[in-house]
Amino acid sequence: MEKTFAIIKPDAVASRNAGRILARIEAEGFRVVAFKRHVISKAEAESFYGEHSAKGFFGALVKYMTSGPVYVAVLERENAVAHWRSVMGATDPAKADAGTIRKEFGESIERNAAHGSAIPADAAREITFFFSQAELI
Ligand code: RTP
Ligand code: MG
Repeated sequence: MEKTFAIIKPDAVASRNAGRILARIEAEGFRVVAFKRHVISKAEAESFYGEHSAKGFFGALVKYMTSGPVYVAVLERENAVAHWRSVMGATDPAKADAGTIRKEFGESIERNAAHGSAIPADAAREITFFFSQAELI
């Protein structure tokens, strides 16, 4: 069994689609190991998305990710990292396949409804970033 880290992003929470996204997570066979509502601070967003700090969209990304509450989650199943990325779809909802979360709920390349770890090493780091060991049940 593998774990991945997911965020239901501020746009999807504001549009009240978080419940639909959680239902999809369960329908895809993930076990929800941890799940909580959280407001990401500026410092957290800058650190979490640090790999993009030199990109032109970084400032807008930090502003967006701190613009309202999110749900952060740890999800477990076989091949969890790759499977969650495929369920989310492409970064740009306009390019995402039909039936993916970003196609269904994303508003734009930035306001794209969900985050998923890119590789297992990222998942381990991102889980520790938002959750203590005691919260992983
Ligand atoms: P994520 O990390 O959130 O799961 O998304 P991702 O791997 O599919 O995409 P990534 O390249 O890591 O980008 C992180 C987030 O930055 C925003 N973004 N905006 N305006 C733009 O051109 C642009 N490109 C990326 C999106 O919110 C993207 O998910
Ligand atoms: Mg990414």
